Amino acid sequence: MSSPILRVDNVSKSYARKASLFGPPVAKTRPALAGASFDLSEGEILGIVGESGSGKTTLARCIALLERPDSGKIIFKGEDLTALGPSALRRRRRAIQTVFQDPYASLNPRLKVGDALAEVMLVHRLASRGEVRQRVAELLDRVGLPARAADAYPPAFSGGQRQRICIARALAAQPDILIADEPVSSLDVSVQAQVVNLLLDLRDQLGLSVIFIGHDLQLIDFIAPRIIVMLAGEIVETVPEELSIKDARHEYTRALMQAVPSLDKLAERDAAMRDPQGKQRRE
Ligand SMILES: Nc1ncnc2c1ncn2[C@@H]1O[C@H](COP(=O)(O)OP(=O)(O)OP(=O)(O)O)[C@@H](O)[C@H]1O
Ligand SMILES: [Mg+2]
Repeated sequence: MSSPILRVDNVSKSYARKASLFGPPVAKTRPALAGASFDLSEGEILGIVGESGSGKTTLARCIALLERPDSGKIIFKGEDLTALGPSALRRRRRAIQTVFQDPYASLNPRLKVGDALAEVMLVHRLASRGEVRQRVAELLDRVGLPARAADAYPPAFSGGQRQRICIARALAAQPDILIADEPVSSLDVSVQAQVVNLLLDLRDQLGLSVIFIGHDLQLIDFIAPRIIVMLAGEIVETVPEELSIKDARHEYTRALMQAVPSLDKLAERDAAMRDPQGKQRRE
């Protein structure tokens, strides 16, 4: 197999805990992430699941260089990113982009969509001022939005459309890796399939490597051939490509499987996944 695009090697991160009124005066720390290790191949979609608080977002933020790990290495294309100084780090940050759960909180409501996308391209010198408007239109088209969306403000859009804008903004940086941290959890079930299908199409068209984080095991199983299962900051199981999450060995993974959303909602979403045209019409 070719060498991985990303290697996460024994990465740990603790946050300071607030001192309790009656506890010791010095704030203690506890690991949000404890020695996580895995590889991501080029073009792979890797799933990460785990209960709330298991460290999924902490892991995403460390990989995206939004957070410095306490220890461990994040090796991107053979280079250890944790060893870089601040200015080199800023340049490398472009290559690993994130889309988070809440598209309402992620977009500045007072910045036109086109300006938000243009800003990313100009900051990273990926387009000149002369060509940026055309590039914005191309990006919007790629995520299924009309060119006129550039002149509107985020509050004018639905949740699903805003998540498309967030994805376009991530793509504006021309990343190698896209981390999607529960990108559809806040969306209506019928819209979830559209955004998931968009991410799958982008992986195919752009050759992106994708880390897809979620609670919903059925959805992750549909999207990601290989799945990492997290509990209390640790990776407790990796479900390999040749197995379904239904074959997971760990008791905790099987318990997660049982906490599935209601069956009629799943059926609605599954129908939408099989019928992309219908989905487009509904939004
Ligand atoms: N900025 C922070 N300050 C203090 N503690 C934090 C911070 N971010 C996360 N934590 C703690 O770290 C642990 C892991 O949190 P994290 O957000 O990574 O979990 P998660 O798996 O993404 O959960 P969820 O499924 O709810 O999004 C939790 O105990 C959380 O309370
Ligand atoms: Mg999270």
